[in-house]
Amino acid sequence: MTSCGILVTGGAGYIGSHTCKALAQTGYAPVVYDDLSNGHEEAVLWGPLVRGDIRDTARLTKAMADHDVFGVIHFAGLIEVGQSVHRPDLYWDCNVNGVAAVLEAMRSAEVGRLIFSSTAACYGTPPNDSPLSEDDSLNPINPYGDSKLAGERMIAAYCAAFGLTAVALRYFNASGVDAEGQVGEAHYPETHLIPLAIEAALDATQPLTVFGDDFPTDDGFCIRDYVHVTDLAQAHVLALEVELGASGFEAMNLGRGRGSSVMEVIDAVAKACGRRPAYSLGPRRAGDPPMLVAEPSRAMARLGWTPAFTDLQAIVDSAVAWRRHRRFGAPASLKSVA
Ligand SMILES: NC(=O)c1ccc[n+]([C@@H]2O[C@H](COP(=O)([O-])OP(=O)(O)OC[C@H]3O[C@@H](n4cnc5c(N)ncnc54)[C@H](O)[C@@H]3O)[C@@H](O)[C@H]2O)c1
Repeated sequence: MTSCGILVTGGAGYIGSHTCKALAQTGYAPVVYDDLSNGHEEAVLWGPLVRGDIRDTARLTKAMADHDVFGVIHFAGLIEVGQSVHRPDLYWDCNVNGVAAVLEAMRSAEVGRLIFSSTAACYGTPPNDSPLSEDDSLNPINPYGDSKLAGERMIAAYCAAFGLTAVALRYFNASGVDAEGQVGEAHYPETHLIPLAIEAALDATQPLTVFGDDFPTDDGFCIRDYVHVTDLAQAHVLALEVELGASGFEAMNLGRGRGSSVMEVIDAVAKACGRRPAYSLGPRRAGDPPMLVAEPSRAMARLGWTPAFTDLQAIVDSAVAWRRHRRFGAPASLKSVA
């Protein structure tokens, strides 16, 4: 019988746990590999947890062999752009050496398919207001983006040389929460706009800082492409079995292809919470582009992927429902950055 095991590194985290649910619903058997440094044991609901560091090649190899996996979905890593500027050493170590360890373990355990969590940060500052396609130039502007692009390039080289096959999925702004509230978003510190705006609406002691209202956009606030985490999860499941060309490697954008401004997010949070989040205005952050929106047609065509959540309000509503009834994680008020 063909194995249906999938090793999900970082499967105790936000996007990884949602993907484990989608895998289980589709008949796969997820095995979470996570050191729980930023994840939650309570989020591991659809298979076993192997505790380990992503740079531990021997432990990864053993986990792959013990659970007879045929593919790996690699989420584990560090995710904060701001922290990466101050501590690039951590990002090059965890995100780049982590990919190297996963690839070496896959070679040893003879596992053939890898799906990699990549990011819109690989593009850097877009040249214009057009949605970003995979053919746009890749010029990351911070160590986080550098480390993810380095991971992509290492994976592409392994595919060419050693016959692995891989898909790098470049997410835009992951957002929203599982409709049944079984898992959710619980980052500490929280740096994402939607959970911070919800916290500000529900807790007057946690005002939001908005960085810049003078961008060259219709309302002056910067625009991002918010894509629901359950839609992201579905794309990973689809990517596991897609036929790949001769190179064995493809990169694909995952976004709704539609941008929402910071003020549109605040409006949606106000509607969902019945109270407007208080915010103060800060200066623009260095390297914050006015607009980052995906051109997602490659993923739609190649994977047959169609995001179910097309509406920002529905995405925000799901995040508010989780905040009101979350099953794990301390309040997002433990934030350090907005
Ligand atoms: N959240 C977003 O909007 C977004 C956007 C683009 C790309 N991504 C990428 O998606 C992936 C997952 O993001 P997320 O928001 O779910 O993050 P998360 O922090 O919720 O999950 C990451 C998981 O990796 C684990 N981990 C971290 N370092 C580890 C190590 N050394 N060894 C083993 N496990 C380790 C953590 O414990 C955590 O469970 C990341 O690779 C990130 O770069 C996220």
